[in-house]
Amino acid sequence: MKEIIIASRNQGKIREYKQLLEPFGYQVSSLIDYPDFPEIPETGTTFAENAMIKAKAVAMRFSVDCLADDSGLEVMALNGNPGVHSQRYSITGTEADNNQKLLHDLVGHSKRIAQYVCSIVYYNVNTGFTSFEDTVSGIIIDTPRGHNGFGYDPYFYLPEFGVTMAEVNPDFKNKISHRGKALNQLLHWLARENR
Ligand code: IMP
Repeated sequence: MKEIIIASRNQGKIREYKQLLEPFGYQVSSLIDYPDFPEIPETGTTFAENAMIKAKAVAMRFSVDCLADDSGLEVMALNGNPGVHSQRYSITGTEADNNQKLLHDLVGHSKRIAQYVCSIVYYNVNTGFTSFEDTVSGIIIDTPRGHNGFGYDPYFYLPEFGVTMAEVNPDFKNKISHRGKALNQLLHWLARENR
């Protein structure tokens, strides 16, 4: 059986990756199984770099293939910020404070074009890494709408569908989101690799 470690302690992410990988015969573990493994400093300037840093650190330490991801919000008028700092954009890093800072930084900006980005890196200890990246475009609005999702979702309006990311149901979000689409790329790649 092929072993793989998910370089995350996020239960939701791990569950999602397990469901995806187990049908391909992977035995999946995660950093939850290695509580002594230290937090990996995300020092990259891009999502892809951060995913790579995490995947490589874990694969090298355990000599086992590893999967890592990194994602966030890029707002054009803010030169791509919050970007890799999406999780800790405000001082406290709470969702409410992050959203408040985002709106504050956008005061006076009429152009609200944004995108969510997700990078996934599969690090094979023998053959090196493969990366996948996808995006979803939206507009940042001033008044929150909807209660689904997390993070910036209530302010992330999808003009194509006339709703925010927090107003769509989870199945729909998985189809159209940056993460859903990057995962889909990974799934197709796994299907080819494991033929
Ligand atoms: P991570 O890739 O799980 O570390 O996500 C980093 C941060 O990006 C999160 O804490 C959120 O602030 C933001 N983010 C990433 N994906 C989403 C999303 O689908 N909705 C809302 N916020 C997101």
